[in-house]
Amino acid sequence: MITVPLDKNRHDRNVFDCEVETLNSYIKVMASQQSKKDNTRTFVLEDDTHPERIIGYYTLTMTPINLDTLPIKLRKKHHNVSAGGLIARLAVDKRYKKQGYGEWLLIDSLRKLLFASETVAFPLVIVDAKRGSVEFYEKFGFIPFQGIPNKLFITMADIRMSLTDVL
Ligand SMILES: CC(C)(COP(=O)(O)OP(=O)(O)OC[C@H]1O[C@@H](n2cnc3c(N)ncnc32)[C@H](O)[C@@H]1OP(=O)(O)O)[C@@H](O)C(=O)NCCC(=O)NCCS
Repeated sequence: MITVPLDKNRHDRNVFDCEVETLNSYIKVMASQQSKKDNTRTFVLEDDTHPERIIGYYTLTMTPINLDTLPIKLRKKHHNVSAGGLIARLAVDKRYKKQGYGEWLLIDSLRKLLFASETVAFPLVIVDAKRGSVEFYEKFGFIPFQGIPNKLFITMADIRMSLTDVL
């Protein structure tokens, strides 16, 4: 399985349904435009037998880090850092849920961010978890920000350590 950049001429965005309307409309309306403007990048996992079908997607970009929301140890370690990688969206179509694709997409997105950070360093990856998916990210080592609901982070050091086996 590989993810490829969203291609509006190849991928049938209109039938994608992850049961969260904002994530459905993002891939239908915004993702391609935002990539063209170099604001975000969206990658999709195609169904091997029907490549036009989108199993799931994720969107990556950068985001400011508010150091005050980090644990003191990390605040000191990264005191002059201002930005981290952001998994802005991640979703699996309802026909493909509960088959491991969400986990696969999350690992794939972290691998891409790890590679990117080897060139342009950043110490954290942040995720905006939609309602009901916080536990999904916690399961993979993400830590909730203090006082900010549905926002979690993981350090690049932890990503590097946990991906060593799969890289
Ligand atoms: C959250 C989501 C991406 C999970 O995708 P999925 O393909 O069904 O998940 P997987 O099959 O890979 O599940 C991997 C593991 O996470 C667990 N898991 C899946 N969704 C979960 C959730 N919402 N909360 C807690 N755990 C969850 C699974 O039980 C599984 O655990 P196991 O390995 O112990 O069995 C998918 O349900 C989705 O697209 N939801 C709507 C959009 C959304 O909320 N996106 C995330 C925020 S942007």
